Amino acid sequence: MYKIMIKTGQKHYPVYLGKGIMESVGSVVSRHLSARPVLIVCDKNVSSLYAKKCLESLRREGFKPHLEILEGGERGKTLEAAANLYTRALELGLDRHSAVIALGGGVTGDLVGFFAATYLRGLPFVQVPTTLLAMVDSSVGGKVAVNHPLGKNLIGAFHQPALVISDIHTLETLPPREFNAGWAELIKYGVVCSKKLFKRLELLNNNLSRGRLGKGFKVIGAHKLMNLIIRAVSIKGAIVCRDEKEENLRRVLNFGHTFGHALEAATHYGHYLHGEAVAGGMIMATELALRLKQIDEPSGRRIKALLENIERPPTPGGLTVEAVAGALSYDKKRKKEELVFVLPCRLGKAVFCKNPSFHLVEKVIEEFLPGKHS
Ligand code: NAD
Ligand code: GLY
Repeated sequence: MYKIMIKTGQKHYPVYLGKGIMESVGSVVSRHLSARPVLIVCDKNVSSLYAKKCLESLRREGFKPHLEILEGGERGKTLEAAANLYTRALELGLDRHSAVIALGGGVTGDLVGFFAATYLRGLPFVQVPTTLLAMVDSSVGGKVAVNHPLGKNLIGAFHQPALVISDIHTLETLPPREFNAGWAELIKYGVVCSKKLFKRLELLNNNLSRGRLGKGFKVIGAHKLMNLIIRAVSIKGAIVCRDEKEENLRRVLNFGHTFGHALEAATHYGHYLHGEAVAGGMIMATELALRLKQIDEPSGRRIKALLENIERPPTPGGLTVEAVAGALSYDKKRKKEELVFVLPCRLGKAVFCKNPSFHLVEKVIEEFLPGKHS
């Protein structure tokens, strides 16, 4: 089992990574939290695959685990879902000596983390990510949130987990589309933080045709995949330890998110998976960087080529430049702040770009929308 320490002002905690460690969740958790009532929360898919193993493992170590199963999906990441968890926790009599385990992807992790941050003013929580996206990004760093009808992740907190346990073998059952979405977040780290990682991903990409990437676990192999996840978590840990509350440096991790959130909002959070929208957002941000001459032509093309290999659903027929650009400027007005883009300036490095010409931004969206993809 591999261990990476995340050191923030709020907390120091370990991220454990290994192959087949779901069966050891109980013993790993018991190293950090004494035996106590535990609420495991997961969605339906994850429940049928991994809840039993997790429950049994905790029981073996003297914990009293309860299971709560969510409907799942981005549209279920709401205050109402958090309120249901409060009710369930109160009915079970959970107090500050209890703990909650988020078993699943980023939706479960964000929602359960939000619940943990607010129930009785804060409970310890454990992230047990089972998607690639959650392993490389959402389970680490303590951003927890639910969505509001006016936008994504608007109600939230910074609440670091007590520990993170990633069993790489769970990625074996991950649907190809979900694997692709997580791969986009992995590329993000390469583009904005590490040329070495970028080149590793590029090399892998050259050996994989588009359709094969989604079958990542089988094609890439658990060992290589684990090394890539370790690299991503180490990068994120180094950033979060310097800027836990996203005051400056951590904002580089929002590469692709300004355009990506606009794509998600303009399609009502129902068409693209988060990672797919971010992949589209990173393509647009790279094109913007090229047009603003922030990055040299060959490097920009290499980044775009890597991102284009990620399959995305076809652009919905009715989606217009106005709708996506409108979602961008709505976001800007709502936050009463400048429109900031994270742009790659060379492989492994990014800069912030405030309020570029909106005409240019629209041009970039226009070029992207018809899509050169499947
Ligand atoms: P998700 O949690 O909805 O999981 C994706 C799907 O995969 C679900 O249907 C789930 O049931 C299924 N699944 C999960 N693990 C599986 C497995 N091992 N085998 C088979 N099926 C499995 O989505 P996600 O892509 O993991 O996360 C997206 C969310 O993460 C978004 O809400 C996004 O805003 C959030 N996010 C948060 C952060 C952060 O820092 N907090 C960072 C990035 C993304
Ligand atoms: N997903 C970006 C961050 O955690 O800051």
